[in-house]
Amino acid sequence: MTHRADQNDRAVLDSWHAVGFLETLGTAPTTTRLLGVDLTIQRDADAAITVHAQGHASPLPVAERYGCLWTSLGTPPATPLAIPEADEPDRRLVCCGSIDVHASGLRVVENFLDMAHFPFVHTNILGAEPQTEVLRYHTEWRRDVDEIWATDCRFHQPQAALSAVGGQDTGYIYRVASPFVTLLYKTCPNDALRPDVIALFVQPTGPERCRAHPVMFLIDDFSTQADLIQFQQKIFLQDRIILENQRPRLLPLDARAEIPTRADSLSVTYRRWLKQKQVRYGATSALPDT
Ligand SMILES: [Fe+2]
Repeated sequence: MTHRADQNDRAVLDSWHAVGFLETLGTAPTTTRLLGVDLTIQRDADAAITVHAQGHASPLPVAERYGCLWTSLGTPPATPLAIPEADEPDRRLVCCGSIDVHASGLRVVENFLDMAHFPFVHTNILGAEPQTEVLRYHTEWRRDVDEIWATDCRFHQPQAALSAVGGQDTGYIYRVASPFVTLLYKTCPNDALRPDVIALFVQPTGPERCRAHPVMFLIDDFSTQADLIQFQQKIFLQDRIILENQRPRLLPLDARAEIPTRADSLSVTYRRWLKQKQVRYGATSALPDT
């Protein structure tokens, strides 16, 4: 069975995908995989990066943005998604390391959008019993930019960020910019007006496998880079245990496949959006009938 994307899977093929952190790319060529296709990444003498894909005569499009190398197997937009906060001079870019996950990348995005798991998976960090209820929030499909947003989300968190002192009611805004690219904006303990921004760039390597690249854009003058990375990695490794135990590993896009609750309104909207875009890679509909 091929693990390559169907040529009709345009939303996936024509997206930009992060395929690694720039800081890890040396002068020697490195290899990775995107949508079942082997890639070779090379930094030329003039420091320009070239990405070659097995079976493709021409080099792939490349972009260097948000600490990552981005590429596409199709015809992507002019640039990867805009994150205006990334240009604020006092924000710290924190590249948290790439993590392989044996699950569909769509599952990894969906899990990133879910608040209900905080008290049970990130106990005493992003949530704690008995405060387990997900309060009503607003979800919308912004048609002008073709993105999914969820606003007015709130959750009580014992340790919302490394720099947080004591518990806080954290406000969240979630954003899905493309099927495998998602971000959240959450109350920053160090700035009353500007939120911290945490992005998750997911590189689908196979239908049931991916590499996650978490990137944070923080307002934090206190913490060391190593401690910030460790805090985020600890949280993501807690998620990975859950993700790798989900069955099916592919994300079901049939609305009847999993029973929605109110807390899942963002998940339901994400799945409907994927279905409407006819995304197949990483979804159960990608499986051949057996
Ligand atoms: Fe989580």
